Amino acid sequence: MTAAFDFSNQFRDDAPAAAAMWKGFPKHNFVGGHNAPESISTDDLVAAASRVLSREASTLAMYSGHSGPQGYLPLREYLSAKLKRQAGIECSTDEILMTSGSLQAIDLVNKTLLSAGDTIVVEQSNYGGCLTRWSKLKVNMVAVQVDEHGMCMTDLARVLERLKADGIQPKFIYTIPTVQNPTASILPLDRRHEMLRLAEAYDVPIFEDECYSDLIWAGERPPALFALDKTGRVIFTGSFSKSIAPALRVGYLVARWPFLSRALASKSDAGSGLIEQMILSEYCPQHFDAHVIKLNKLLEAKLDVLIESLNENFGTSVEFTRPPGGIFLWLRLPDAVDTSKLTEIAATQGIAINPGVEWSKDHPNGNRHIRVCYASGSADDIRAGITALADVCHTEFGVPVRSANRER
Ligand SMILES: Cc1ncc(COP(=O)(O)O)c(C=O)c1O
Repeated sequence: MTAAFDFSNQFRDDAPAAAAMWKGFPKHNFVGGHNAPESISTDDLVAAASRVLSREASTLAMYSGHSGPQGYLPLREYLSAKLKRQAGIECSTDEILMTSGSLQAIDLVNKTLLSAGDTIVVEQSNYGGCLTRWSKLKVNMVAVQVDEHGMCMTDLARVLERLKADGIQPKFIYTIPTVQNPTASILPLDRRHEMLRLAEAYDVPIFEDECYSDLIWAGERPPALFALDKTGRVIFTGSFSKSIAPALRVGYLVARWPFLSRALASKSDAGSGLIEQMILSEYCPQHFDAHVIKLNKLLEAKLDVLIESLNENFGTSVEFTRPPGGIFLWLRLPDAVDTSKLTEIAATQGIAINPGVEWSKDHPNGNRHIRVCYASGSADDIRAGITALADVCHTEFGVPVRSANRER
């Protein structure tokens, strides 16, 4: 066996605990924002890669090629036009920073704005990846209620007023208004205007995270908060992870220059990978829109299988709102079910789900929810996984009652 140096006295005090070694995907995988493998257009991606590399491979000799530290210029040009067309966002290529996934954009925003002890305003059901980041940074998160239409504006007004009375100025309001994670809600236009009005009244920036907005069954979406804002207070992030492929690691941060220039100064990786940006910029103008239409049909069909399977296996024991888009379903189980415990026991049976508490901040029923991602498995995988989950849940919590919908 190779000798391993004992680093235990060398680690800094606040170094994170050891990561678990990856042992492959679980048999029934309902976690992670994975995409549908069958959606990847191999031939078109290969052709795009071949074309762009034949033309421009020599520019890879330079850090960031010929485009500078903000990322591949033709891709920023494509994005500038796409964001205008689909989200109503007017931004120049200089107001876009390409990042290694939107997670890097989130890290840059955090690094640029947040110190330990700062306060931010967040949705009560929320993206676990952000909640853990802010906990590690020792940032105070103040939760605002959400419903099936996203953040509730009366509660946002209450929270902002209370913070003001306490002399606390939040650093930003973080929101996922267009296909929220985990509820998949889409914030209606009137609430968007109201959020902007409140943000202006209390002089708070907004951090808008939009990585699922291409995945809407109806295709239509309200304009982004960034597009409606007249004050330059919205910072926006998006990604190609959910629309094309998460393994590409291509995201983007959009902001007016006074903020973007500070975020750029915090980006210390000498540029995000250029080959994937080049391939996307070659692929997207011709294929993106058609690809997303095909992907959405595929995802909606998988959602239907999931819902059918839940109805068959759990009957009335689960409650949910049918999502208008996205890749996950946010489920409410009865009070008898502790979903953190369910997650633990299910994992021993090869079933991976997200427990609601990890996707919630001060949510009164967080531990009665689970998040189920349905994009990556086949219809048969989804059916088998939900049947297995129902068995575990029944054995442990007596839910669902066996006779509810089918003979077992
Ligand atoms: C709301 C939200 N923001 C950001 C991300 C990060 O995505 P990526 O870094 O792959 O672009 C995710 C991933 O699941 C997400 O759900």
